[in-house]
Formats: sequence, C-alpha cells, structure tokens
Amino acid sequence: MSPELTVGLLGAGMIAGVHAHAYRDAPGVRLVAVADPVPGKAERLAGEHGAQAVATLEELLALGVDVVDVCTPPTSHADATVAALEAGRHVLCEKPVTRTLAEARRVLAAAEAAPGLLSIGQVARYAPDHRAARDLVEAGEIGTLRMLTHSTTTALPGWSEAGWLADPATSGGPLLDQGVHSFDYAGWVIGSPAVRVHCMAADSAAGPSTYAVATVRYENGAIAHVECSWAHPASRGFRLSAELVGTHGRLAWDADQLMSGVLHRADGASEWWDALGDREFTRELGDFFAACRAGGPPPVPAAEATESLRVALGALESARTGRTVDLTTWEQP
Ligand SMILES: NC(=O)c1ccc[n+]([C@@H]2O[C@H](COP(=O)([O-])OP(=O)(O)OC[C@H]3O[C@@H](n4cnc5c(N)ncnc54)[C@H](O)[C@@H]3O)[C@@H](O)[C@H]2O)c1
Repeated sequence: MSPELTVGLLGAGMIAGVHAHAYRDAPGVRLVAVADPVPGKAERLAGEHGAQAVATLEELLALGVDVVDVCTPPTSHADATVAALEAGRHVLCEKPVTRTLAEARRVLAAAEAAPGLLSIGQVARYAPDHRAARDLVEAGEIGTLRMLTHSTTTALPGWSEAGWLADPATSGGPLLDQGVHSFDYAGWVIGSPAVRVHCMAADSAAGPSTYAVATVRYENGAIAHVECSWAHPASRGFRLSAELVGTHGRLAWDADQLMSGVLHRADGASEWWDALGDREFTRELGDFFAACRAGGPPPVPAAEATESLRVALGALESARTGRTVDLTTWEQP
C-alpha cells in the first residue's frame, strides 16, 4: 500500500467541490483541511468531506499537509503556489497557471528550486474523448495532424465568488478562462510550439470579447481554430465540439452526443449538465497523486501550461489591437 497523501484544499468554491469529490476515488489520499476566507464556505465543504475548515494558506501549511490543491481565482495562483512550493509541498494548481506571464515566470522559478512537484489543472487532457482522440493521433490513425478546431460556448458563468469571472482583469474573459483549455489541448496534441495567433472578438452584455474566434499557427505548419463564448443562451448549456483533421483522416466529437444531460422543467426552463463530468477530474487527480508518489515527473508541467497561457494572452492582445501576434518574440506588455 502506498503511503497516505494528505491534502489541503485552498478555496472552497465551485471547482474545489469537484476536486474534493474526486479525492474520494483516489486510494490513500485524505482531504485534511479546506481554506477559504469567505465565512461559511470552507466549513460547508470541509463538513461534507470530514475535513477541517481554516481561513488561510498559512493555516493549511501549519497542518503539515503533503499536497496543496490551489482552487482559487487566477490572480491568487502565483502567490499561493510559490508559498506552498517554498514550504516543501506538492502543488496542484488549477488552470490557468497564473493570470500573467510575469507571475508564471515566478512560479516556474519556484518549481525549479522546490523539492515538491507542481502540476497544472489543464483537465481537457484528461477528458476521455479528448484523451482518446489524442491517442488515435499518436497512433497515426489520421496521418499527420494539420488542423484542429475546438469550440466551447456557454452563457456567462454565474457561480464565481463576488463575480470574479465577469471581471476581465481577474479572469481574462472566455478567451483566457475557457480558451486556455482549447489552446492547451491543441498545443499538446499538435506537439509543436505555437508561433502566431490572430483573434477577432465581439463584445456582448456578458463583457468585452465574449464572442471570440482565434487562429493559431504552429511551428510544424499545423493550424488550430479556437472559438469560445460566454454570450450564448443559458438554456442551451455548455457546448463543446472538436475536429482533428490529418493527412489520412478526420476525428470529430461534440458534447451534444457524448457528455451532456438536459433537464426540461414543467415551467419551460431547461438546465444542462455534464452527466459524467467528474470523470476527467478523477483521472487528473489520480495521475497527479501517482506522480507525487513516484517522485515525478509532473503530469502537466507548469512550462507547458505557461505556453498555453501565452497563446491565450496573445489572442487577447490580437483581439485588442487587430494585429497578428508573433509568439516567437511577443512579451505581454
Ligand atoms: N478545470 C476546469 O474545468 C475549471 C472549471 C472551473 C474553474 N476552474 C478554475 O478553478 C479556479 C477557481 O474557480 P472557481 O470556479 O472554483 O471559482 P469560485 O469563485 O467558485 O471559487 C473560488 C474560491 O476561492 C476563494 N478564495 C479566493 N482567494 C482565496 C485565497 N487567497 N485563499 C483561499 N481561498 C480564496 C473564494 O472565496 C472562492 O470561494 C480558477 O482558476 C478557475 O479558472 C477550472
């Protein structure tokens, strides 16, 4: 039996609840404590999982947990991750790695110097459909991948604490918060550095650049087309579609066929949900805990997640300026 790994969860919001649930499927892993400064939130989540509630990262660290799981808004990722790494803990940090490239560089330096492992929650790599498609590409089933299209569209998510998702300075809007999944998946499957990004976006009541279409060129010549939006009707739910085209074939899937359930209420309202939604998190966390026990390597290295962040930020810059961003030289202003 592997030694027990104890976990401290930083943040008690939406995704922290999903992680806490997924720990239950991870043998030898125990959630010890949950930290959140908003009164009542840590108590509620900790209570559901037999854990202790605290208010701060410092209190979590003082409990001696082996792993810190950072599930807070992106603007707090760098400070929390660096502090937990410097305290000698393993860290799983939710995507995006950080809000800015300067913060990401700070995290990369801390990870380099620390004894613990750092992995980033780019969970699209673990969604069974996405993982299966990537395995088929790796096996050569569609020849050389030349074009990848990834679309995620939904209404403005309404759950975030004090509405941080609706504040572009914190979330980066859909191009960063949601698009970083698409850019990460594309970069991972194409397996070549992104060299150029062009993006057009339109505003909506959900905020600036909440309808967005980006195209990316990779060093090996492949291209990706990423669409994301937070301005679609709420009744339609979260929609995802993907297409991978290579020299010898095409792979495609969408959430309409694979993932989602819909609840139609008698009053005419409908509610969509991902009926199998926890499965990618169970795989992601299981892989991370296995890597902690094995002494590495991290399943999603922070350097790869930083490249995905860079493409998303480059897309935002392109949407703002109307110009193509040369990612081989671009630095975030
Ligand atoms: N992988 C995915 O598919 C996915 C989905 C949703 C969110 N996320 C990511 O997870 C992170 C959290 O998002 P969320 O939707 O759960 O947001 P949320 O607003 O529901 O929860 C965030 C929680 O963090 C708490 N918090 C803020 N600063 C803190 C601090 N310094 N210490 C402790 N707690 C703090 C807030 O009070 C809040 O309860 C974000 O980075 C987001 O991008 C990932």
